[in-house]
Amino acid sequence: MSRPAGAAPAIRVRPRRELRRDRRRAAHACWDHLIAAPLWPLHGANLGTLLRTCDAVGACLAVPRFPWVPEALARGNTLRRRSCVHWVNDPLGWLARQRDAGSRVVGVELADEAVRLADLPAARTRTVAVLGHEAHGIPAEALDLLDAAVEIPMVGTGTSLNVAVAGSLVLYRLAGLL
Ligand SMILES: C[S@@+](CC[C@H](N)C(=O)[O-])C[C@H]1O[C@@H](n2cnc3c(N)ncnc32)[C@H](O)[C@@H]1O
Repeated sequence: MSRPAGAAPAIRVRPRRELRRDRRRAAHACWDHLIAAPLWPLHGANLGTLLRTCDAVGACLAVPRFPWVPEALARGNTLRRRSCVHWVNDPLGWLARQRDAGSRVVGVELADEAVRLADLPAARTRTVAVLGHEAHGIPAEALDLLDAAVEIPMVGTGTSLNVAVAGSLVLYRLAGLL
């Protein structure tokens, strides 16, 4: 049934001013609970997208200290304030240390042993979500350092999702917001 002329729309889109009022005044400090770890990135644009998702769900972003990464993050940062970034010198060593310190390391990957996204529970302990290289996925040496893997089911013709899309879906789930 169509809406009578002049009637208020059934759905009201919240204006930016109102959204700002409900958001945090400052970027969160390091909560150290949920960390997105694209440790072998190829495209800077994906890091910018992941940084926005990290802000949205209250996660930190762990990135390698490649020379081009700071600029890619600055370019991709469409936020007024940037969320927490951890700089990683040695991805494999860093992952091993996260595990040794008691973090759960979850690989976001198409893998035989992976749980489906819908079955992934929200993170109850400090969790690192590891994302793979855009062309090669998570390196074999890093697969040994995972506690679990999660896969996002696909029914189309593509073999995989964009890494920032995959990471964002998993971060929302781990944060308990989806
Ligand atoms: C483009 S994919 C990597 C390519 C893929 N491993 C291959 O060899 O064709 C880049 C990364 O995105 C994530 N990813 C993409 N699609 C995914 C899916 N359906 N489930 C889980 N992770 C996915 C993974 O972290 C993966 O390593």
